Amino acid sequence: MKKILVFAGSNSLNSINKKFAVFAAGKLNDVTLEIVDLNNFQLPTFGIDLELSQGIPDNAMLFLEKIKSSQGIVLSLAEHNGSYTSVFKNLMDWMSRIDGKLWSNIPMLLLATSPGGRGGSSVMSAAKERFQYMGGNVVADFSFPFFEENFSKLGLKDDVLSSQFQEAINTFNSKL
Ligand SMILES: Cc1cc2nc3c(=O)[nH]c(=O)nc-3n(C[C@H](O)[C@H](O)[C@H](O)COP(=O)(O)O)c2cc1C
Repeated sequence: MKKILVFAGSNSLNSINKKFAVFAAGKLNDVTLEIVDLNNFQLPTFGIDLELSQGIPDNAMLFLEKIKSSQGIVLSLAEHNGSYTSVFKNLMDWMSRIDGKLWSNIPMLLLATSPGGRGGSSVMSAAKERFQYMGGNVVADFSFPFFEENFSKLGLKDDVLSSQFQEAINTFNSKL
């Protein structure tokens, strides 16, 4: 069975993006899920001087190995001030020092959600623009607004969003 790496671009213990990524991954057919949390891959803030003096921390390599050993990625990005969270950007920066094409052409379902009406669409745009230069293979994406109001473990409450979400799941499934 194909192994899908599932994570959020967040280090919040109550991350809505982690909930959403896990929920979305649960809709996939015939896969095994490897659900990981950035809190288990602590890294110092990237700096060229730190890299030169101490090398690349093991956790950057360990996370990159998680990516490379998967056959699909479900990533839901949290948005901070219109962009990536620090923890996610920091992880990418460290991994990019090992392999600039870190996403390794593995099919990705890219998600973003937030409590507000834009659903993390700024960070989603940033990622869609940038990941293509980093070995990214985003085959489906979906931005989910008003998480608290719209999310239920039984399904997305809004019919239009629910069908767009299902379409993204179906597309991703077909590309695995
Ligand atoms: C420093 C900070 C900046 C934020 N900036 C944005 C933002 O630009 N756009 C947005 O939709 N939400 C923003 N939020 C709200 C987050 O979307 C919200 O905290 C969400 O729960 C983050 O996702 P997570 O729970 O997966 O970590 C911000 C929150 C923090 C703490």
